[in-house]
Amino acid sequence: MCGIVGYLGPRKASSVLLQGLRQLEYRGYDSSGISILTNKKIKIYKKEGKLANLIQEVPEKLNSPLGIGHTRWATHGGVSDTNAHPHISYKERVAIVHNGIIDNFTSLKEELIEKGISFSSDTDSEVLAHLIDYYLDEDPEVAVQKALDRIDGTYGVIALFKDYPDILIGARNGSPLILGVGDGESILASDASAFIGLSRQAIYLDDGDMIVVKAKEYKTLDRHYKEVFKQPETIDAQSTTISKEGFDHFLLKEIFEQPRSLSRAMGEGGRLQAEFGSAKLGGLNLDTRDFFDIENIHIIGMGTAYYAGMVGSQIIERLARIPTQVLDASELRFSNPIVKKNTLYLAISQSGETADTITAVKEIQNKGGRVLGIINVVGSTLARLTEGGVYTHGGQEVSVASTKAFTAQIMALTLLALLLGRKKDVPISYGKILVKALSDIPAKVQQILDQAHKIKQIAEKYSSASSFLFLARGLNYPIALEGALKLKEISYIHAEGFSSGGLKHGPLALVDEKTPSVFIVSEGETFEKSLSNMQEVKARKGKIIVITDSQDNRIKTLADDYFIVPQSEEVLMPLLNVIPLQLLSYYIANHLGRDVDQPRNLAKSVTTD
Ligand code: G6P
Repeated sequence: MCGIVGYLGPRKASSVLLQGLRQLEYRGYDSSGISILTNKKIKIYKKEGKLANLIQEVPEKLNSPLGIGHTRWATHGGVSDTNAHPHISYKERVAIVHNGIIDNFTSLKEELIEKGISFSSDTDSEVLAHLIDYYLDEDPEVAVQKALDRIDGTYGVIALFKDYPDILIGARNGSPLILGVGDGESILASDASAFIGLSRQAIYLDDGDMIVVKAKEYKTLDRHYKEVFKQPETIDAQSTTISKEGFDHFLLKEIFEQPRSLSRAMGEGGRLQAEFGSAKLGGLNLDTRDFFDIENIHIIGMGTAYYAGMVGSQIIERLARIPTQVLDASELRFSNPIVKKNTLYLAISQSGETADTITAVKEIQNKGGRVLGIINVVGSTLARLTEGGVYTHGGQEVSVASTKAFTAQIMALTLLALLLGRKKDVPISYGKILVKALSDIPAKVQQILDQAHKIKQIAEKYSSASSFLFLARGLNYPIALEGALKLKEISYIHAEGFSSGGLKHGPLALVDEKTPSVFIVSEGETFEKSLSNMQEVKARKGKIIVITDSQDNRIKTLADDYFIVPQSEEVLMPLLNVIPLQLLSYYIANHLGRDVDQPRNLAKSVTTD
């Protein structure tokens, strides 16, 4: 699960590669490396740890028109300089960068060792470098084909060749690879963000494709290595160079950006139909009559996207009365899913590159199911794979822990729920109330952010706790799960989310005076029950932090600390309640000196399964 990049053209390859890797670091940051060709020799610089370590290693004056680069999230082989990519072949004629997993690498490695080839890393990827070199008696294109034919598994791979200084060869199977077609230059990368400023014309490779790249031309081949023409596509012009805009961390910037990102998710109002109390979503590619045929909705995703799906499923069921399930994509893909004609599938993903979600979508499509996407990254693999959907327009999210993408996903699902609801039972009068409430959401989020200092105080007070519980009911239950996920991701503190009703079925055993319980409580039908759950914690001397929209004095008496969010329609409360939880996690992690934007062991986009 890594980012790869390759460059060929008039610029200094090392600078382009390092700039590209900076954009790709979200895919992994255990180590990074580049390889360039100088004086007919392959040179490799690679370093364990963040990209900053590599930048210090690479000499300023290095001049070469071509090279390849890699940023790694370790799968096979520990985090070390030697396991970092690029990997060079035994005759030093080939260097490769690889994203993916070679399933049959053990047998291939044994075979190559028997031939007298020695390995210098513990990675699966190194076999690819040796295999290509082994077949390199013929031209490099044939050697790559022969090597790929031996491989089972997934790859996005780029190879450079000592004796062919004017080409790079790339191939993709399960891991993305895109060619940026520049003016007299070419850049191959896992993600178009790596060619910001260089090219806006992109060739998206499909699984099984191979590409032979020169500075001014390229050739694409299909899975049978037959030459095929691929039309360049214009990529999203909004991509910008990433900046913290004065915030200490990307995470904090992204939390504070939510009034804007939520407005964008509503199409700056253009997705709201005030007159009909409904929503307008142009990209669904569904005929109005198709809506009547939807009998079930299945939402699939991973991590934070999965929790957004859990919120969305409840909103869809409440507004549209369509039975909706949320499925863990990594489980679904192996479950031999029962795909039915009138079930609509929604794949949710910020990156659009999550391997489990992609594979699950392919399995559903293979069985004839219709899948729409709720995707942030325009042109990503999932966006291209699905038949239509809703772009969340959250903007580029850099921090590994997802915040603004989560609220944008909930917003997109809420708009869809409103649209479906208005075609069913939701009367125009309630539709109009919801439209008004939706348009007020960004200002209400801003009101919460304006009080971030209060959350900071609470965070610092509890930052020495070694375990937290997050408890809620109904629509807020997924928010409790997301609150716990956020805290563990960035602070490394153990945290679990439970339904408040489930508390006495086990989790209550964890409560003591050192374990804070964070309750998320909104006014509505479960309010009184939630107060009882707080009593149960209080009786065990547990500390209680409450996030609520209620001014009820009983909360103030029961809670050790509380934060009041503005009120809204019940179905919209998750969008508000999650904001203080994001801030709580951020301030705790920052207080503990954690690497907030790039927490240990994680990656923003999990592109291997
Ligand atoms: C990783 C990230 C999470 C994210 C999940 C799904 O686990 O660390 O923040 O929620 O992947 O990613 P996606 O891009 O599909 O939303």
